[in-house]
Amino acid sequence: MTEHTIVVGVGGESDCENAIRWAAAEAAARGTGIRLVHAFVWPEFPVALGPSEVAPGLRAHADKIVADSLELATKLAPEIPITADRVDGFPSPVLLRESRTADLIVIGSRRLGGALGVLVGSTGTDLAAHAHCPVIVVRPDDAVDQGRGVVIGYDGSPAAGVALDFGLDYARRHHVDARVVAVHAPNDDQQRVTQHDLARAVQSRQTGPVAELIHVTGKPAEELLRWSADARLVVVGSRGRGGFTGMLLGSVSQTVLRQARCPVAVIPRSAVQTS
Ligand SMILES: Nc1ncnc2c1ncn2[C@@H]1O[C@H](COP(=O)(O)OP(=O)(O)OP(=O)(O)O)[C@@H](O)[C@H]1O
Ligand SMILES: [Mg+2]
Repeated sequence: MTEHTIVVGVGGESDCENAIRWAAAEAAARGTGIRLVHAFVWPEFPVALGPSEVAPGLRAHADKIVADSLELATKLAPEIPITADRVDGFPSPVLLRESRTADLIVIGSRRLGGALGVLVGSTGTDLAAHAHCPVIVVRPDDAVDQGRGVVIGYDGSPAAGVALDFGLDYARRHHVDARVVAVHAPNDDQQRVTQHDLARAVQSRQTGPVAELIHVTGKPAEELLRWSADARLVVVGSRGRGGFTGMLLGSVSQTVLRQARCPVAVIPRSAVQTS
């Protein structure tokens, strides 16, 4: 196994097939391995009356999930080192622990009908807020390797700075365009990122293909969704320059996570502090 790993949380529903697909493409681009992890919750529940009759069946079911996801990943990425494990525990703590050593964590999510967008469950929200590495949320119907490139939301915050690093790096590895979007919300001059700030932030980092700088006025989440409509990935920080510290995710990252039409990469705060 290579030292660098992309961890995929596999829940056992078809939701995560596309997450595995995304991870396989990314592992090939990065030259890393993949680690598939299924969190098995049963041992977390105390069983009062002797050995349970259902436990062996549940364990066998969990092992089948692991085996099936390994089979799919191996089919998608035969040249990549892949491991798969059942780990006892609830999904959030299990995957948070994995995020300490992973390069990336990839999880699936369900799309809800109509305008409701996507169901990013509590595991996804928890990870996006607290993981120690970037978290990628992939919907079952997201196109994994199509779309015009990567869109990065930049609001001048430390998390957005890491989002910029991540997005430019992704563009370089995958030979796609990068569009860096800074939205100036009217009546919000205090938190304004000027055109000059935006250009300086990008120039100080750029090593790959030239990024397009987009400086627009409007509602940040709405504009990010608009610019990412034809993208293959949108990248945001879990928090930005705003300030309700009690919230796990900022309002922009929450809306983008729910409503983007492509995979979303979130850079959690803890990933910013340790990087
Ligand atoms: N005006 C903006 N232009 C471009 N990207 C933005 C803008 N605002 C936020 N983002 C992106 O969204 C991420 C999360 O920011 P968000 O605004 O959701 O959190 P916050 O500022 O902490 O909370 P809130 O604004 O809800 O008080 C940022 O790291 C950045 O990637
Ligand atoms: Mg904000």
